Amino acid sequence: MFRLAFCRRSIPSPRTAFQTACYSSSTRKPLFPTRTIQSLLSGDSTTGTDVVVRGWVRSVRKQKQVSFANINDGSNLKGIQAILSEADANKLSTGACIELKGTLANSPGKEQSKELQVTACKVLGECDGSYPLQKKRHTLEFLRTIGHLRARGNTGSAVLRMRNAAGEGIHKFFAEQEFVQVNTPIFTSHDCEGGGEVFQVLPKDFFKKPVYLTVSGQLHAEIMASALSRVYTFGPVFRAEESLTSRHLAEFWMLEAEMTFIDQLDQLLDVTEASVQDTTRHVLDKCAEDVAFFNKWTDPTLLDRLQQTVNRPFVRMTYSEAIDILQRVQDKEKRFNFPTTWGSSLQSEHERYLASEYCQSPVFVTDYPVDLKPFYMRANSDEKTVSCFDLLVPGIGELVGGSMREERYDILEGKMKQAKMNMEDYQWYLDLRKYGSAPHGGYGIGFERLMLWLTGLENVREVVPMPRYAGHCKF
Ligand code: 4AD
Repeated sequence: MFRLAFCRRSIPSPRTAFQTACYSSSTRKPLFPTRTIQSLLSGDSTTGTDVVVRGWVRSVRKQKQVSFANINDGSNLKGIQAILSEADANKLSTGACIELKGTLANSPGKEQSKELQVTACKVLGECDGSYPLQKKRHTLEFLRTIGHLRARGNTGSAVLRMRNAAGEGIHKFFAEQEFVQVNTPIFTSHDCEGGGEVFQVLPKDFFKKPVYLTVSGQLHAEIMASALSRVYTFGPVFRAEESLTSRHLAEFWMLEAEMTFIDQLDQLLDVTEASVQDTTRHVLDKCAEDVAFFNKWTDPTLLDRLQQTVNRPFVRMTYSEAIDILQRVQDKEKRFNFPTTWGSSLQSEHERYLASEYCQSPVFVTDYPVDLKPFYMRANSDEKTVSCFDLLVPGIGELVGGSMREERYDILEGKMKQAKMNMEDYQWYLDLRKYGSAPHGGYGIGFERLMLWLTGLENVREVVPMPRYAGHCKF
């Protein structure tokens, strides 16, 4: 009594810690009057309970005695089956937004365990007859042209739920490993990767210097790792990639982790492997229905592959070993179009061969030639290679790129000069090596490529709500 009275009287005044504790989430009235379909179907709600469902009509089947409608609110794949009178069914059309009141009942049908016996039906938003998402299979290309409605379909909504679960898995993993999430800037004055594929920001005189959209938060994450030890950032990055491939977008999301006090590449590979595995496990746990959907309609090997991913360590080989393998195949089968000589880049055809055929598993390729990689990667003692890796996965190719970072001032300065970088612009990066430098490393996971891996879809344009690529910025 006292606690309640105290709380009520005190709410208008500034809250003390004790008052805040009183006004906890357990005493708060529910924020939403209705529960999601997913929670109604899977939660503790028992049959015979009166419930309210709001969502969009996927399909209506009218019959004399009784009619059926499938209602979906995006919280699960299958929605809920509603049993309603012909009069109510006549009010509904595919795509309309509706509110149904009724009773949750056991369903005699094979497809669902519970259904909704409707007692009242209200149309919240009519749907025009031109609604393009009818109850049939549409091609992924067509769905992309209706980006404003794509998420109302099975593939579009499953992708978004799985993106959410993958993001959750990532945050969970890094929180468990005591990383601090940091936010790196979108506007930058440098080109981290040195690839030159940057979008320049206008108006040019706003910042009084050329400014770009970030291609990677890595260098900024290194600043924060040099104070907070273990950090990660998860956000959009931008690359003016002209290449119109199934793996490249102009705007994509990247998870970038940076950790101080590791001094072996293998430690970095262990963290990378665990983060991919734990994220995959979280998606498998949280989105079993969506994974089963993609396994049925998109890639019948998906479930097995994901289960193997979480249960088996990834293969590890050096770039030199990879070149040996590729050369042997090339000598025998002449199957590659690009050279497989030491010092040349691994092309998609090589990456796919290594992951999909030779290893049939995700594979870390490590220690690439220095000339193939950016300035910040740590030089190996052989002076020919750098302490780095690409993680290649079957069907996709490169999913993750990372390295130990060059923490030795003189060596880093030498590499930057050799790369003809503007030393003034990057002095702050060198300073980090002057003021308490420490061994460290990090990596970046392309989030859309991870989503390809998790869904079995083949094109990154399918796994991002509004794909941006050369010539395309619709919606
Ligand atoms: O290999 P990248 O270029 O590495 C970096 O940007 C590092 N600075 C990351 C780090 O160490 N913090 O890119 C990392 C990943 C790639 O492995 C790939 O999965 C993805 O980002 N990626 C793209 N995804 C979609 N569209 C593009 N245009 C991509 N370019 C790279």
